[in-house]
Amino acid sequence: MDRIYLTTPLYYVNAEPHLGSAYTMIITDTLARYYRASGCDTFYLTGTDEHGDKIAQAAAQARLDPKAFTDEISARFRATWDSCGFAYDHFIRTTDSYHVGYVQELLTKVYQAGDIYFDRYGGLYCFGCERFYTEKELVGGKCPDHLTEPQLIEEENYFFRMSKYQDRLLRHLEEHPDFIRPEGFRNEVAAMLREPIGDLCISRPKSRLTWGIELPFDHNYVTYVWFDALINYVSALKHKGEDFFQKFWPSAEHFIGKDIVKPHGVFWPTMLMAAGLPLYKHLNVHGFWTAEGQKMSKSLGNTVSPLEMKKTIGMDAFRYFVLRESVFGQDSDFRQDSLTARYNADLANNLGNLVSRVLAMQQKYFNGLVQSLGSTWAPEDVELKERFVKAEYELGSHMADLQFHRALEAVWAAIDYANRYIVQTAPFTLFKETDKRSRVGEVLHHLLDAIRTISRLIAPFMPDTAGELRLLLGLGEDDPAYRAAWGECFAKGHAVKPPKVLFPRIETEGKR
Ligand code: MSP
Repeated sequence: MDRIYLTTPLYYVNAEPHLGSAYTMIITDTLARYYRASGCDTFYLTGTDEHGDKIAQAAAQARLDPKAFTDEISARFRATWDSCGFAYDHFIRTTDSYHVGYVQELLTKVYQAGDIYFDRYGGLYCFGCERFYTEKELVGGKCPDHLTEPQLIEEENYFFRMSKYQDRLLRHLEEHPDFIRPEGFRNEVAAMLREPIGDLCISRPKSRLTWGIELPFDHNYVTYVWFDALINYVSALKHKGEDFFQKFWPSAEHFIGKDIVKPHGVFWPTMLMAAGLPLYKHLNVHGFWTAEGQKMSKSLGNTVSPLEMKKTIGMDAFRYFVLRESVFGQDSDFRQDSLTARYNADLANNLGNLVSRVLAMQQKYFNGLVQSLGSTWAPEDVELKERFVKAEYELGSHMADLQFHRALEAVWAAIDYANRYIVQTAPFTLFKETDKRSRVGEVLHHLLDAIRTISRLIAPFMPDTAGELRLLLGLGEDDPAYRAAWGECFAKGHAVKPPKVLFPRIETEGKR
């Protein structure tokens, strides 16, 4: 792969950033770092979704005009992501003028091509979802998401001929089985496309809502918020120029949560078809997080805040936990006891102990100075290296399949082996015999190479820890030695730093 375009959903500015939104950020940030490090040209986009009823209502509640309100909350989202260290390349707001201009350009094109028409329509409308529902979609007469009864409204609106593209989209899904992944979500969309999907109401009369992008062909209407927001994935690239769009669009990888599959899996590709644009490469759908078995909600006070996590256990440990504990595409539960258990076992014990033991011995036995390797390596040294080669290989294949938990599992299997290698080679015992000291120097040299490899492998997942490990090894970020082959990084006499506690153990009640 030589280029990749990664996107997150645009977050509504009516809620604070939480684990659900942070999860997509963690996944995409990890992938962006992974692909950048592999030399792949990467563009990573996120941003905020700022128009529509929901936002207008939230602004009214805050007694602010919508623009002032969205300016404030969008900036807060951005500040949160920045302080979490997410390295996105561009942050788009649907109120940005270039986005507004491009939405209007695309609407004009589709309108002129005859795929937007005016009609009178009556139907059941959920204000929470900002869309019409069919009787069949309701559960007990209520919106399945908001558990409120939709209101019957009748008005004249503009409609997008979505149904015209239904068969073509179904064919595309059949010809590209991984267009939407994991498979369960592809099947969900395929099932939707086997039933009549109808056309999509893409306007809201200004008499009801003014906070939106005005339709270029009728000043009495604004654009339906989804028709506006989805276009961000293209407008952000077009903003950087047509060449930029041509370069990145074919490699678009959208990442979303499972509640917004229909807009991304049905509305968006049919919109692209009508606009004469190629389809995105993949729609990648993740599951939902609950907290201690319950849906997260403000009223229950159980929302997991990424900034709070950063403060309590650190951003890297939080990233490790959500990626190691969840299976992409499936729902997961955020439990404090699992977090503590994983933190103590994998980070404090397995990784933390390896690093502190090796650096402590290097310090104690050789004043931190790396010793040279002999020309032949013992079988256990070769085995140690091989374990890391295997981990790197497995990591690559799991990343391609979005199996982040497996990728981490592969690296931790190698870390585990490195700890066993210490037990097996027993440098602390060998050092007592003067004639074995050069062997101790070799063993530690191999272990420093293991730590360097760990730093490289975990860098996309735990960027700060990777950087700390590199510094402890006395290596600069751009130092070619950092990426050198095993055994070829450390010159004799290179100094590494004294140990440091990377992950202090979390003491749990009753255990000391
Ligand atoms: N604004 C739309 C997306 C427009 S994209 C052109 C939207 N925004 S949202 O703020 O409501 O949701 C943003 C993302 O957070 C969605 O992918 C949603 O699935 C995700 N999550 C919200 N709660 C979540 C969990 N509890 N768990 C995992 N993801 C969740 O929808």
